[in-house]
Amino acid sequence: MTMTAEAPATSPFERIGGHPVLRAITDRFYDLMDQDPAYAELRAMHAPDLLEMRASLPLFLAGWAGGPRDWFEANPGKCMMSAHGSFRINAATAGQWSEAMRRALAETDVADREIADAMADVLDRMAKGMARD
Ligand code: HEM
Repeated sequence: MTMTAEAPATSPFERIGGHPVLRAITDRFYDLMDQDPAYAELRAMHAPDLLEMRASLPLFLAGWAGGPRDWFEANPGKCMMSAHGSFRINAATAGQWSEAMRRALAETDVADREIADAMADVLDRMAKGMARD
């Protein structure tokens, strides 16, 4: 009997649908942050123009999810947790970030719902880990 080779592991980046899906998720996230008064406090912490964030967050998420590492190559050694150390993030604003991201993931047409739900859980823990009080 011959052994069959195991299929190569598929990254979360590929499972969710790659760059176009991550862009759709992050655009929805910033639309919600911009338009829903529930996230007003979080919105006020960001620059008036979200264009740079709309470009940066999907690229961060791509590398973080095992895909192309452009963001990490452009920001050598940058740690997302310490990069947020200078912002006054509390439980309320961390909760707003997490909830807007969970909604954006739920409302976007992803290739694999299971990995989108797993990402929502991990990002929830990451955001709440950034809260200082
Ligand atoms: C916990 C709540 C969070 C708050 C209040 C917050 C707030 C901010 C703020 C104020 C900026 C600067 C951008 C600007 O001035 O417009 C920023 C940048 C950024 N944040 Fe957050 N953030 C949070 C959580 C997260 C999480 C969990 C991630 C990643 C999963 C993330 C990813 C980023 C990225 C990629 C940037 C741009 C940095 C760069 O590309 O150099 N943030 N954030």
